[in-house]
Amino acid sequence: MEGIKVGNKKSKYPIIQGGMGVGVSLHKLAGNVSKEGGIGIISTADIGYQEEDFAKNPLEANLKAIEKEIKMAREIAGEDKILGVNIMVAMNHYKEIATECVKNKIDLIISGAGIPKELPEYIKGSSTKIAPIVSSLRCCKLIVKHWIKKYNYIPDMIVIEGPQAGGHLGFKKEELNDKNNNLEEITKEVVEYIKEVEQEYKKEIPVIAAGGIWDKNDIQKYLKLGASGVQMATRFVATYECDASDEFKKAYINAKEEDIKIINSPVGMPGRAIYNNFIKQTEKGKAKIEKCYNCIKTCNPAETPYCITRALVNAVKGNMENALVFCGKNVDKVKEIVSVHDLIQELTAN
Ligand SMILES: Cc1cc2nc3c(=O)[nH]c(=O)nc-3n(C[C@H](O)[C@H](O)[C@H](O)COP(=O)(O)O)c2cc1C
Repeated sequence: MEGIKVGNKKSKYPIIQGGMGVGVSLHKLAGNVSKEGGIGIISTADIGYQEEDFAKNPLEANLKAIEKEIKMAREIAGEDKILGVNIMVAMNHYKEIATECVKNKIDLIISGAGIPKELPEYIKGSSTKIAPIVSSLRCCKLIVKHWIKKYNYIPDMIVIEGPQAGGHLGFKKEELNDKNNNLEEITKEVVEYIKEVEQEYKKEIPVIAAGGIWDKNDIQKYLKLGASGVQMATRFVATYECDASDEFKKAYINAKEEDIKIINSPVGMPGRAIYNNFIKQTEKGKAKIEKCYNCIKTCNPAETPYCITRALVNAVKGNMENALVFCGKNVDKVKEIVSVHDLIQELTAN
């Protein structure tokens, strides 16, 4: 298996660990994935939730935490490895967050949950590379054309997230049941289109497939379809190094197929999560919002059934009674916690 090129660095293996917010992929997970030859991605969503002043001044806390988490991940991974961040377009203060990551010399920004229209602007003059997350050929074309027209910038990578992914999904609920919306088909279409862009602009653009990728056979399937690598998240939760609480990891081990549901999130996109008591309660009525963290552009505290920051922070800390636990479709296959080293070895063994 060949690694993935990002700027003048190359990973050993074609595996990216997907960014997971809130706090699920921070320095420990991302740093170790990069150290082991993959590409580790730190989630910037409410990254400062452990800072003392997070409730009072979330933006300042988040910016402070970006610097700390990147530094600590870099110490684990080493300078020669590729380290990235994930920034959701739906978050407030996107520009400040992206700028802070660039200032801290992050190698790669992967950005979805919306269209990262202005991202090329924020990396100007830096060595940071950028990759949009797309869920269709249409969305891929839209971003490529917009970046070329407005910034004369060709994406450095394309991440395709299919309908089996965890967290927020770039599909409407009804589209998730449409058999035509499958990762294999979207990958074939995007690979074909990106080949034309590569030829026209003489630039290599790795295409990465994500969502429901489980084992080495899955990885090889997407490599054969022309992808340069895969992005995986659910499997990386079940590692010792994952930054979430043990309770979060236990919820993954205990999850059965019937426990996984598509939920409506305050972000305005459907999301895949474990159907626990908390989610059942939110379906019955609106919870009282005691404090707004001003996290998501589209959220209206007066109308949202629950505060997504609170629910995700509860999950990462292990307060499972009040937790929103995002997961990929394959979470029911998770049976044990392993080390990042062993997982990457298993996924890449000859
Ligand atoms: C717990 C969890 C949190 C996630 N959070 C984010 C996020 O903050 N931003 C994002 O772009 N994707 C997020 N994702 C999506 C992953 O990065 C990844 O692309 C996807 O889950 C891959 O599918 P898999 O989990 O089946 O491997 C999340 C996924 C999970 C499971």
